Amino acid sequence: MLASIIIPFVLAPLALTFSPTPVLPLAALPTTFSSASNPQDPTAELQIRNTLSLYPLIIDGKAFDHLDLVFTHDVYANYSAPLGVINGTDALAVILQQSLAPVDTQHLLGTCVVQLVGDVDARTVTYYQASHFGKGLFSGQVLYAYGAYDDSWVKVGKDWRIRQRSLVYYGPTIGNLSIFS
Ligand SMILES: *[C@@H]1O[C@H](CO)[C@@H](O)[C@H](O)[C@H]1NC(C)=O
Ligand SMILES: *[C@@H]1O[C@H](CO)[C@@H](O)[C@H](O)[C@H]1NC(C)=O
Ligand SMILES: *[C@@H]1O[C@H](CO)[C@@H](O)[C@H](O)[C@H]1NC(C)=O
Repeated sequence: MLASIIIPFVLAPLALTFSPTPVLPLAALPTTFSSASNPQDPTAELQIRNTLSLYPLIIDGKAFDHLDLVFTHDVYANYSAPLGVINGTDALAVILQQSLAPVDTQHLLGTCVVQLVGDVDARTVTYYQASHFGKGLFSGQVLYAYGAYDDSWVKVGKDWRIRQRSLVYYGPTIGNLSIFS
């Protein structure tokens, strides 16, 4: 009797176990996203592009409380070394706030391909260039990072949110890493 009451609550989280989509090699991206050039729902595509554009505004504005405007609350985010895998916007907010505390930033989004997968799923790959501006002793120094966000999206009600993010770096960071100290 007791077990029949408890078991559903014990098992519920297991049902949410998430299998992340693997990061693709760069050379596979053109063919993986080739159907993005076929006709697709322009409203959904624009919604996704605009939602994605909020990400740099949130990060550069250090308004980390608003990550839920871009991500599902339980997002699986692999930010690569040194941050690694971060689950959920609560953890993401804390970790990004801490790691970016010593610097001001500008995240510039570039090339962005949006591929709708059915009515409620989509995938995007978006180039970024992140400029990290030193403060205090490091004022005037910049650390540049280059890469891409590989994002899987889900439609939640009328909105689109990132369910999985993989951040990959292209090339080395350029500049004085000490600005983060
Ligand atoms: C994040 O979630 C995934 C999938 O549910 C899990 O395998 C992983 O251990 C979690 N990682 C962290 C750092 O919480
Ligand atoms: C996270 O992403 C990095 C860079 O693509 C990769 O090397 C690493 O294996 C990924 N981690 C997991 C747990 O998938
Ligand atoms: C980083 O900046 C500090 C402070 O200006 C300076 O002393 C140090 O030499 C710089 N390091 C590099 C690798 O540029």
